[in-house]
Amino acid sequence: MTRPCPAWLAERLRAAGGSVPFARYMDWALHDPEHGAYGSGRLQVGRSGDFATSPSLGPDFAGLLAPQIAQWLEQVGTERLSLIEAGPGEGDLAADLAAELAARWPQLATRLELVLLEPNAGMATRQRRRLAGCPLPVRWCSFEQLAAEPVQGVLLAHEVLDALAVERVIWHGALWRRQLVVLDEDAAAGPSLRLAPGEPLAPQADAALWSQLKLRGLVESDVPSAAARALPAGWTTELHTGLTPWLQQAGSVLTIGVLLVIDYALETWRYNRASRADGTLLAYRDQQASGELLQQPGCWDLTAHLCLESVDAAAAASGWGLLGQRRQGEALLALGLAQRLHGLQQSEPYELTRALASREALLRLVDPAALGDFRWIAYRKGAFDDAAAALFLLEPPG
Ligand SMILES: C[S@@+](CC[C@H](N)C(=O)[O-])C[C@H]1O[C@@H](n2cnc3c(N)ncnc32)[C@H](O)[C@@H]1O
Repeated sequence: MTRPCPAWLAERLRAAGGSVPFARYMDWALHDPEHGAYGSGRLQVGRSGDFATSPSLGPDFAGLLAPQIAQWLEQVGTERLSLIEAGPGEGDLAADLAAELAARWPQLATRLELVLLEPNAGMATRQRRRLAGCPLPVRWCSFEQLAAEPVQGVLLAHEVLDALAVERVIWHGALWRRQLVVLDEDAAAGPSLRLAPGEPLAPQADAALWSQLKLRGLVESDVPSAAARALPAGWTTELHTGLTPWLQQAGSVLTIGVLLVIDYALETWRYNRASRADGTLLAYRDQQASGELLQQPGCWDLTAHLCLESVDAAAAASGWGLLGQRRQGEALLALGLAQRLHGLQQSEPYELTRALASREALLRLVDPAALGDFRWIAYRKGAFDDAAAALFLLEPPG
């Protein structure tokens, strides 16, 4: 299927020779500073925006996460500490966590700063507005700036890794091809976009893609694996080639600390199912999900699930040690979600509206068919006293 191509993108594609790998297209559509969905700040996160995330449902998410962050910060050091958030979106999680930590851990808060890593200027503008009046010192910087003077603390990546550009590959029954986005010129109808398979992948020429295919069990040495041979021709999936560079950058900003990734993620065996014939990429806008990845580039969010094994391998290769991982539903129950829900029953009548909104948000956060199935994956860097296990990995309080 073809889709109209906006003038700015047609110009880029012409300059690139008429076609680009899917990852380049995704990067432009999301992060182009003028036209990209995040780069321009056009996409809005939240109930009345393009899509809702856990922090955008209200302050309960941060309220439940705060004890976990406080535990890690206290374990990490007794000096100055940083709570870093990569890709803070509207700034809801950062603002709500800062408020919780300042109110409930005032001693800790006196040596804590908030650092926001946001590559898209359009998003950073709204974050500045949201964080006006933040009770902690707050600064925005790039990974490179922070890496020049690395800090101790906790780094959060909530629904960020799913926004990294991915490559798409197609199985042709005997070999793999990289998917391309192609520009078609038509003087009468105007330029349009379509997806098309590129040249067959060669192990040496496409080493980065090949190593990701290997990791997912889709090739053995330099031949298709038995798992791939069982897949139907045309089966398409995505490869997270941006993960290792991102995790290396993340490692460069902390001397000692914890990285908490919260995102959609699937085990390899679920990712590689024959029935998942189009991979996991989806487009989001106006609270609607769509499989049409080429429609209105720069107006829709594009997001791919993570593969758990790929994240773990990329993290290990980047110097991170796994602390543990859990589904969000279980993690939030361990952090006291049931008690918070129960506590709402004691709300005063004048608090009814807030209590009902809170109840709805808490139930959405643990819904096993939606946000509750998100994964919390925690990694450590450097030596610190973590004799007490991470709170989110414990059994829920009785
Ligand atoms: C799906 S939104 C998530 C927003 C917020 N964390 C939330 O959950 O509500 C993705 C965010 O990550 C940012 N982002 C995209 N690529 C990034 C990267 N390479 N490093 C850090 N942030 C990135 C986007 O600009 C946006 O703010």
